[in-house]
Amino acid sequence: MSASDPLDVWHRLAGTSVLLDGFHALKHALRFGAEVPVAVTADRAAALALAEELAPDVRDTLDALLAEVPEPAYRGLVPRPHPTAVAALAVRPSRAANRDRLAHLPRTAPVVVLDDPRNLGNAGAVIRLAAGFGATGVVTTGTLDPWHPTVVRGGAGLHFATAVERLTVDDLPPGPVFALDPEGDDIRHTKLPDEAVLAFGSERSGLSAGLRARADHLVALPMRPQVSSYNLATSVAMTLYHWSVTGSAPHVP
Ligand SMILES: C[S@@+](CC[C@H](N)C(=O)[O-])C[C@H]1O[C@@H](n2cnc3c(N)ncnc32)[C@H](O)[C@@H]1O
Repeated sequence: MSASDPLDVWHRLAGTSVLLDGFHALKHALRFGAEVPVAVTADRAAALALAEELAPDVRDTLDALLAEVPEPAYRGLVPRPHPTAVAALAVRPSRAANRDRLAHLPRTAPVVVLDDPRNLGNAGAVIRLAAGFGATGVVTTGTLDPWHPTVVRGGAGLHFATAVERLTVDDLPPGPVFALDPEGDDIRHTKLPDEAVLAFGSERSGLSAGLRARADHLVALPMRPQVSSYNLATSVAMTLYHWSVTGSAPHVP
């Protein structure tokens, strides 16, 4: 194996890089400026045909980047083979740069905070939503790693389109904290500013005491009596949509 053999490069970088699992994760990461030192596929022709059909903007980049490796070698690189048989490694953005982006004021779009989330799929779905709405970033508190491969897979590679970091409740980005809770004031009577920090509780136990203490406003999504709560990611979706129609700037083209 030579130093430029893609499998050799892969094994050298795998422990410190972000796994992009599947064509769509790689496509999104490239679109949003990720540095991708290695990308492999078990079927180069199929991957390039997919690019021509779905992502002509990154087709030439993929042509230069994608190395074909034998199917068993590809399978050995990923936890679960993806239907597109594409995988890549990306350089994780620096924590310092992400912290700066999150702390920067004035802000043109809110930061989403997930307070001690437990479900990797929910975290990925929230990052995808934040990217779609152009949110400044997604902060998690607690033990879940927001760059875990399952979260990156759930986020479809869109971690590179928004600032994703784990912080503590004492270290949240600046801005008025709007905490989402079924006991709060009806969100329909609330305008969410672009500088808002939108905080959501854990799937298991809701908002922590620490986050409640930091909240400037407690707001609720409309919900019929006898329904206890919505799923975490769908709550974020409704809240970002509400911001997109009540915020002061045009956000999504
Ligand atoms: C699955 S819920 C948490 C349920 C949890 N068992 C509890 O005791 O609150 C996850 C988070 O979604 C948000 N959420 C869910 N339904 C909501 C609603 N109707 N209004 C505001 N926020 C809601 C809250 O931030 C909540 O902490």
